[in-house]
This record gives sequence, C-alpha cells and structure tokens, in this order.
Amino acid sequence: MPPNIVDLRSDTLTVPGAGMRAAMAAAEVGDDVWGEDPTVKRLEERMAQLLGKRSSVYVPSGTMGNLASVAAQSRPGDEVIVDAQAHVVVYEVGGAAAVAGVQLRLLDGFEGIPDAGMVRDAVCEDDIHQPTSRLLCVENTHNRRGGAAIAVERIRECADAAHDCGLRVHCDGARLFNAAAALDCSVSALAAPCDTVSVCLSKGLGAPVGSVVAGDADVIGEVRRWRKRLGGGMRQAGIIAAAGIYALDHNVARLRDDHANARLIASRVRESTGAAVAEPTVPTNIVLIETRADAHDVVRAAAEQGVLVTRVGPHAVRCVTHLDVGEVECRRAADVLALTLSRA
Ligand SMILES: Cc1ncc(COP(=O)(O)O)c(C=O)c1O
Repeated sequence: MPPNIVDLRSDTLTVPGAGMRAAMAAAEVGDDVWGEDPTVKRLEERMAQLLGKRSSVYVPSGTMGNLASVAAQSRPGDEVIVDAQAHVVVYEVGGAAAVAGVQLRLLDGFEGIPDAGMVRDAVCEDDIHQPTSRLLCVENTHNRRGGAAIAVERIRECADAAHDCGLRVHCDGARLFNAAAALDCSVSALAAPCDTVSVCLSKGLGAPVGSVVAGDADVIGEVRRWRKRLGGGMRQAGIIAAAGIYALDHNVARLRDDHANARLIASRVRESTGAAVAEPTVPTNIVLIETRADAHDVVRAAAEQGVLVTRVGPHAVRCVTHLDVGEVECRRAADVLALTLSRA
C-alpha cells in the first residue's frame, strides 16, 4: 500500500510484521487433520482456556467457524433465531441455508441483541406445522450495528431465555477481544452464556488467517467433523497457528488504541459535519456513518484523497481502525472524511 493511503476498509487488511513472520517461520508443525500439529494444539488449548471452554478447534475463517457451529447444532429444516443484520445473515453467502439447511428467523433487537421476550416469542410452538427452533445466534461485537460491544448481562438474558426453551446458543465473536477490551471484562465472561463461540484471529488481532471455535468437547468434536466436511481440514497448519499465538501474546492489549482512534474519527465527523454517526452504548473499532449523499460518491471522493472506507448501504459508510493505522493516520482520515461529508 502506498505510504500516503489510510486504509480503513476493514481490520482484516492488516499484514503480519517481522515478529509475527519470525514466529511463523519457527513454528513446529505436523499433520493437523491427524491431530499431530503441536502448534495448532497449543493454540487450541490456549483459546479454550481463555474462553473458559473445555475444547476448541482451529478453522480457516470466521465464516467457516459460524457455519460449522450452526451445522453442528442443528438439523436441516430447523430454525435458527438471529439478528437481521448479523454477519451470518448478510455476509455468509447464504451458507446456513445452503449447507446446514436451516431456516433463519430474523429479529431486530437493540444493537442486534434480542431481549428475553423477543427470544421466547420467536421460538416455535410444538406444532406439526412448524420448524423446530434449535439455535440462537448472537454477535459480539456487532459489525453492522456500529461495532457495538454487548455487555455480558444482555448476552446472558437472551441466552438464558433460549436455553429455557431448549435451544442452544452460538456467539459469533469475530471481535470478542475488542468487546472484552471495550467492556473491561474477560472474553471468558462474554463467552460463558453461550454453548459455542467463534473468535477470529485475523481481524483486530492481526493474524493473516484463522479463527477458533470453542465449546464443550462433544460439540467441538462435531464442529471438527463439519470443518473436514467443508474442506477445512488443514495439514501443517502450525505455520499459520503460530501467527495466532503471536497475536494473542502481542496484539490484545493494544486493541484499546484502535478504539480510541475510532472515537476520534467519530467525534470529528459528528462535530464538523452533523452527519449521523452510530453511537453504540459501548463503541469499539468500527465507525458507521449515515450520509446524505450516495455512499458510492463518498467512498470515491475519500479515496481520491487517500482515505479508503467501505460502502455498507446506499447511504452508509464504514471505517474500521486496526493495527496498521496509527493516531496520525486516523486524524488525517478524520479531516478528509469531515471535508468530504460537508461537501456531499
Ligand atoms: C462479525 C463477523 N463474523 C464473521 C466474520 C467472518 O470472518 P472471515 O472473513 O474470516 O470469514 C466477519 C468478517 O469480517 C465478521 O465481521
């Protein structure tokens, strides 16, 4: 990337630095499908422990982590209750329907999380005409809801309601470490109400690839079978798992810097243009801006001035702060966006 470009399109765009590459080069490896890669095992054990679960499995992507978790905890024809703006619904190519064969029941809860009443109302009755409600999916942080970090009490409320109705609960925790940093709590506290949780190493944590799904041993065994079925069994995957371990060692504490940078962009844009910027109760590294102008035009105009952002709706653009953009770049991006939006 040219040095004068500030790339805020996503936190998936980070590239591994010298330390991470050195850790990858030095990784001890074996065949992970045979359960013989010591570095993958080390990552899985560490993540299970961090997330307060008995077991975990390394998967190639967050999308596969979600799909394998849904498939492992449902049967074709079942219903999965999920927020209408969830990644599982909007950005996973219909995999839950096409591969797991489930029907999605879409809700519209505050910041993407239903309350207990919404969950109970959405659960199907025991009636020959209706599908079986099997799983509740929550997302934390919530990408399309402005990067909202969801407090454990709210996750527990809907998860308890789901469990009372006999459902299981999956958390898409692609950015669970961001949520924990913003809420000043542990990732295990956020994962505790959920049966499975999928966490990405390749977003704010800065690894080049990989996610982990954690849960109890039985369900993770089933997720592991689904990973293989989906073609996600990897061989000497320790090379990439080492990057995940390095990310856990070096890139967790600094997530707060990304959050501070996102806040400075949000407040500059809000104050100088009057544009509506999403204000989640607990914000993280995502800035969601409502634009009066066509979002394509805003994206193009900002890019002409060296700031890359993403269109996420006809009148919505998103900026995501990350490891590869510092405060100076974010201040410049904020100036460019403020100017672009005031002209739009
Ligand atoms: C909330 C959320 N879940 C899941 C994913 C999927 O991750 P991947 O791109 O590794 O498939 C993403 C990716 O951005 C995400 O934002």
